[in-house]
Amino acid sequence: MQFPFALPLIQAPMAGGFTTVALVTEVAKAGALGSFGMAYTEPSKIIEDCAAVKAQTDGAFAVNLFLHEGEKPTDLSDILAFLKPLREKYNLPLIPNLSPKISLSHQFEAIIAAKPSVFSSTLGAPTGEMIKACKERGILVFGTATTLEEALFLEERGVDAIVLQGVEAGGHRGTFLESNDIGIFALLECCAPCVKTPLIAAGGIMSGRGVKAALTLGARAAMLGTAFMSTLEAGTPMPHRELLKGKRNTVLTAAYTGRKARGITNKLYDELKNLEGQTPPFDVMNALTRDIRGASMKANDAEYMSLWAGQGYRASREMSAKDLIETLIHEMI
Ligand SMILES: Cc1cc2nc3c(=O)[nH]c(=O)nc-3n(C[C@H](O)[C@H](O)[C@H](O)COP(=O)(O)O)c2cc1C
Repeated sequence: MQFPFALPLIQAPMAGGFTTVALVTEVAKAGALGSFGMAYTEPSKIIEDCAAVKAQTDGAFAVNLFLHEGEKPTDLSDILAFLKPLREKYNLPLIPNLSPKISLSHQFEAIIAAKPSVFSSTLGAPTGEMIKACKERGILVFGTATTLEEALFLEERGVDAIVLQGVEAGGHRGTFLESNDIGIFALLECCAPCVKTPLIAAGGIMSGRGVKAALTLGARAAMLGTAFMSTLEAGTPMPHRELLKGKRNTVLTAAYTGRKARGITNKLYDELKNLEGQTPPFDVMNALTRDIRGASMKANDAEYMSLWAGQGYRASREMSAKDLIETLIHEMI
């Protein structure tokens, strides 16, 4: 399978406002694959943003959704009591809106209508019907795997390419079978000899040298998320941008949202870390902390936000997306 973009580079999908129309357009114009993270985006906005990119470039871009199965919430009284001081700190209602998330099937219908070059997914495997619908519209399907077993599962399903996400990666882990936190190089070493579907390497890659190393180990392209968060076109909020220049550690934790995600530590982590393994399911915990994290961002305070970032974040560079891609290519030679 030929990728519909010339460079072996992909700007990772990053839900939560990071992947703006400007970022995806500039990446696509430069000959790499731009990606929208649209897990939290209304269907009408998916259509609008895809049209906005298409109006500016014929370059390839992807739209990404979360495919996890919603789990039933448990008794929330303990967690609500635990979060009460934080919710009071920001004058938030003690019980936030836990109404159902945006309909996945409507989001998927919007993607089929908007016809990006690629439908990419994480936190689950695309169904056979989804793959068929995409193929009928000429849309490629990428899935995300964090283990060899998940890669073989996605290959069997019939996806066009598999994003291997190493444990170094920023944001949520895409795990959908048994969890095992493997680094990207070890994961490539395990998958390259036996997975025939094209592999894309993600996790901790910040330079052209890193891209080259991933290609040497069998990847057809490298996917960079954190590296693009400091680009001028990214929607990264200012307090988050500032901490990308800092010296704190990253941590992989399920305490913020109920699913493992990697981010820079802050006071919110200090307060929530004892909840590790005891949080309600993803949709619920994500909703329970979302407005706290949003209020902290509005107050320009990084301490109670989610500061998703990969382990390589200290190699971040502030420049335009076009310049970053040119730099990465130059460093590969
Ligand atoms: C802020 C942020 C948000 C993310 N959101 C998504 C997402 O919506 N969908 C997805 O497939 N991956 C998401 N990821 C993971 C990336 O796709 C990718 O695996 C990761 O950025 C690669 O590691 P790196 O950040 O070290 O480059 C996110 C990563 C970050 C940093």
